Amino acid sequence: MADILLLNGPNLGVLGTRQPEIYGHTTLAEIEDAVRRRLAEVGYGLRAEQHDGEAQMLGALHRHRDTAGAIVNPGALMIAGWSLRDALAAYDPPWVEVHLSNVWARESFRHHSVISPLALGVVAGFGAYGYLLAVDALATSLSTGGDLSRGTVDAPPAAAQTGKHPGPGAAR
Ligand code: DQA
Repeated sequence: MADILLLNGPNLGVLGTRQPEIYGHTTLAEIEDAVRRRLAEVGYGLRAEQHDGEAQMLGALHRHRDTAGAIVNPGALMIAGWSLRDALAAYDPPWVEVHLSNVWARESFRHHSVISPLALGVVAGFGAYGYLLAVDALATSLSTGGDLSRGTVDAPPAAAQTGKHPGPGAAR
């Protein structure tokens, strides 16, 4: 079974108690468990690492370059983590950038990410649930060879089938 790397950066090891009004009450261990379960459902294993130092983040990317893809929350390294950016550029598989908070609704210094241009996509503002959205996006991308239009978006959401929501493609 192929593995996905879940890489969390500085200050994310204390999730649950770190500014819960911004980052929520879910711990990193709980997030890793939930990601592991969701990945198992779509046929992948998990390798999870968290580091407060940029050098250790680079080491993790180098060590796990045989993974099928990655989910990366760079924390504040998004702002000026140029070495992290270079390591991600050298990491060939697709990867998704995740932020628990909506960084664009916060201080202006959080509005720019040096790594986003290299990401498959960015999920921000959905708290811990964002990691599961990233799993779904990454797994769909991997299973469709990168063509997300052939993925789950073609299937109407469950609510559409019960008539509660028009769903994509429904007559307007
Ligand atoms: C964060 C947002 C960053 O701006 C911040 O430095 C973090 C967490 C998030 O998940 O919302 O450490 O990446």
